[in-house]
Amino acid sequence: MITASSPGAIFFFGEHAVVYGYPALITAVDRRVVVSERKRGDDRVEVFSKKLGSLSGRVKIGKKPVIRILRGDPQKFAYLIKALELTFAEVGRSCGLNIEVSSDIPMGSGLSSSSAVSVATVAATARVLNEELSLSEVTELAFKTELEVQSIASRAGVAVATYGGFLWLRHNKIKRLNKIPQVKVVVGNTNVPCSTSSMVRKVRQLKEDHPSAVECIFRLIGTLTEVGIESIKKRDFERTGKLMDINQACLSALGVSSPELERLIGAARSAGALGAKLTGGGGGGCMVALVGDRSQSVVKAVRAAGGLPMLMVLGVQGLKTKN
Ligand code: MEV
Repeated sequence: MITASSPGAIFFFGEHAVVYGYPALITAVDRRVVVSERKRGDDRVEVFSKKLGSLSGRVKIGKKPVIRILRGDPQKFAYLIKALELTFAEVGRSCGLNIEVSSDIPMGSGLSSSSAVSVATVAATARVLNEELSLSEVTELAFKTELEVQSIASRAGVAVATYGGFLWLRHNKIKRLNKIPQVKVVVGNTNVPCSTSSMVRKVRQLKEDHPSAVECIFRLIGTLTEVGIESIKKRDFERTGKLMDINQACLSALGVSSPELERLIGAARSAGALGAKLTGGGGGGCMVALVGDRSQSVVKAVRAAGGLPMLMVLGVQGLKTKN
């Protein structure tokens, strides 16, 4: 049996603008998706998840191998199925598999659980087929998976799921940031499901309708990322928090915030957070607050405002695989 696990992610700066080639600062959080795969003697693919139920399929071999679904809801496992098909095609071999998926990343909450699923599935499947893929090959296959499922994406989520740590990312350039000091954040889940792909489409539409205004917002977000990284490195958390607030105003202008997110963000700021913004696609899902020494009061405030607060360890290890 091969097991691969990958972490979820939060954005300090840069979501949405990153899709259009502007830089982002992202970090891995201590919540993971775990994918375990065992080879079968036939062509069946049996997937089981405590949270999502089960799925049965059959591998149809060809130049582009596909999984024919026999039973279960393919939508729930869209990233996993696509990652399997693309890995089979890349490696040039395929096999039947028993697959178990578990996750403590809340699904559809903007913490990049789909990227973690894609990366862990690609890595586990390649290993089952005795193929050693490099980390950049895993990232690229997982990125292809996201593009095929949601048609538009950046490499941010899959890069963090693969490499972990703190990353600066722009297009396909990924830099690991090693000099990031310990930063304390509280993540608050609105418990409103967010659909990253619909938020990305919404921003694309806004960009088509108001190209120069939206380009200006993206440029500002890119600047916030670069200045934000410098301020974190200098431990100037007051400044970092302010920059996060400005980033939130940009996201709000792009139409991806929501009343629930604004409520949690407002509550965190009133409780002494240095700054707060949504993280990921928006429209629901999670916000993140930079808390300095006010973590307990921010936790309480987020809870009182109807959110689910989570204290997370940042910069954790990326992809892990074991036999
Ligand atoms: C979603 O986690 C982040 C977005 O920037 C989309 C992406 O980068 O693929 C909204």
